Amino acid sequence: MDSTPETIATAETPRGEIALRERASADGTVVHELVVAGVFAMDSADTATETALAQRSLERVAAPTRVLVGGLGLGFTAWQALKDRRVRDLHVVEIEEDLVQWARLGLTPTLGVLARHPRVTLHVQDAASAVGDGEPAGPWDLVLLDVDNGPGFLVHEENERLYSATALSVLLSQVTTGGVLAIWAAQREPQLLATLTGLAPTEEIVLPVERQDRCLEYVLYLARA
Ligand SMILES: C[S@@+](CC[C@H](N)C(=O)[O-])C[C@H]1O[C@@H](n2cnc3c(N)ncnc32)[C@H](O)[C@@H]1O
Repeated sequence: MDSTPETIATAETPRGEIALRERASADGTVVHELVVAGVFAMDSADTATETALAQRSLERVAAPTRVLVGGLGLGFTAWQALKDRRVRDLHVVEIEEDLVQWARLGLTPTLGVLARHPRVTLHVQDAASAVGDGEPAGPWDLVLLDVDNGPGFLVHEENERLYSATALSVLLSQVTTGGVLAIWAAQREPQLLATLTGLAPTEEIVLPVERQDRCLEYVLYLARA
């Protein structure tokens, strides 16, 4: 059985509590948990779909030199992108300043590597500001968006605007030809699929996962610019 989680960092933000917790799994491995807006967001025990977001997208892009990741979390999507040596300039936008600070302090191994790596720039930024003329500026060969559960199941209501046809169209206009805009979702999102398909050829990739004896389907949406 896993040990009781211990809080190693916590902060109050305008969006609620964020916290980093640590537990030992049954085999003694250290597992990190992230709480965002007072809600359990993810842990490091199974990061297969966060990793797949980067991996499946990178497989589809010939020259993914400049990559934008929306949402740092525990850093697994960005870490997977960094492992691809074709990625030379990786920018991560994260709305929670404290989380970026915890990365700079190296509170988890993955976050620590990202914060120190010369090919990575961490920005304390709302991903919405990277849309349009905002910073950091495109063009991008790949955009990996995992800031929320998806438009049908939001943690931050304000993130709804990121999934609008207008925002997605602007984001896609910043992706180089042959590049990909990829979005992680915690469930099938028919409206998002319809919106993206109206803008660009889009794939829906369903990833079955088991969580606490429940079978779930996480989904990736990959739109090709
Ligand atoms: C589920 S986590 C991302 C997990 C990440 N893919 C990983 O591999 O660990 C979502 C992250 O997005 C951040 N976030 C939420 N809304 C955001 C926004 N509008 N702009 C930037 N970051 C945001 C949250 O604070 C959180 O760190």
